[in-house]
Amino acid sequence: MKAVILAGGSGTRLYPVTQAVNKHFLPIYNKPMIYYPLSLVMLLGIRDVLFIVNPTDLEDFQKLFGNGSKLGMNIEYQIQEKPNGLAEGLLLAKEFIGDDNICYMLGDNVFFGHDLVKIMVEAKREIEESGGAYVFGYYVKDPERFGIVEFDENGNVKSIEEKPKKPKSNFAVVGMYFYDNEAVEIAKNVKPSDRGELEITSVNEEYLKRGKLKVKLLGRGFAWFDAGTHDSFLEAGEFVATIEKKTGLMIGCIEEIAYRNGWIDREQLLKLAYPLRKTDYGKYLMELGG
Ligand code: TTP
Repeated sequence: MKAVILAGGSGTRLYPVTQAVNKHFLPIYNKPMIYYPLSLVMLLGIRDVLFIVNPTDLEDFQKLFGNGSKLGMNIEYQIQEKPNGLAEGLLLAKEFIGDDNICYMLGDNVFFGHDLVKIMVEAKREIEESGGAYVFGYYVKDPERFGIVEFDENGNVKSIEEKPKKPKSNFAVVGMYFYDNEAVEIAKNVKPSDRGELEITSVNEEYLKRGKLKVKLLGRGFAWFDAGTHDSFLEAGEFVATIEKKTGLMIGCIEEIAYRNGWIDREQLLKLAYPLRKTDYGKYLMELGG
């Protein structure tokens, strides 16, 4: 399985902050927003990652991650000329994906939960064994803002709708999707929505039509933030700060995960930590390396 992380977009909901800077570089507490989705992909053991980026941001992403080798990974970039929608990323990633299955992540989503990696591993296994699409639902108070999934009395998915005016439930589909290779072909047939975007919900709808969409609800014990608004951005930062201070462990620390995965050795870890030594982040890495 390969991972595609969407890190383009226009970030208009974070204006004026994002008028000059791409939101994925903004700090969720002590690290760039983009570290959070990347860290999840790494926790899944996926080493091949493609970032979909705006033309103006390519250099900055390269500054941050290079070709991924310093994390023991292969990181590539694909420019999206315009934010034409989430499903366009599948088309742009076609070559990178090849014949593989896909872990498709939104660059501005932050997740936390005791069993999170376990359920992601389960989703990955399900796709690898049975194909189809596997997505996650989360209870929200403002369903008009999201892709919303409706269930019948037996808990089966009945419908899925993007930003419905009259939502049929309060369960939003979060920004972490697992697809078999068919997703690329499906995305080819998606037509722009009323707001002119190629919606990822249309891809999920097609899987639903084929009887191949699985939705797992993330219940109590999971935190999910779509950090693309001022309030949720702040909430995500406060949440991460609280958890990290309480547990003494970092969330979304990509160097730590690379080290624990055995993708980099102690010497490489300390080399990454050295320039960060004036921060608690750097000290944390130094300690980890002993
Ligand atoms: P959104 O938050 O839906 O869109 P946006 O980033 O353009 O922000 P806004 O609505 O405030 O204008 O995007 C979700 C994620 O997907 C985010 O990390 C940016 C990324 N994205 C792309 O990479 N390409 C796109 O075409 C779009 C629409 C989003």
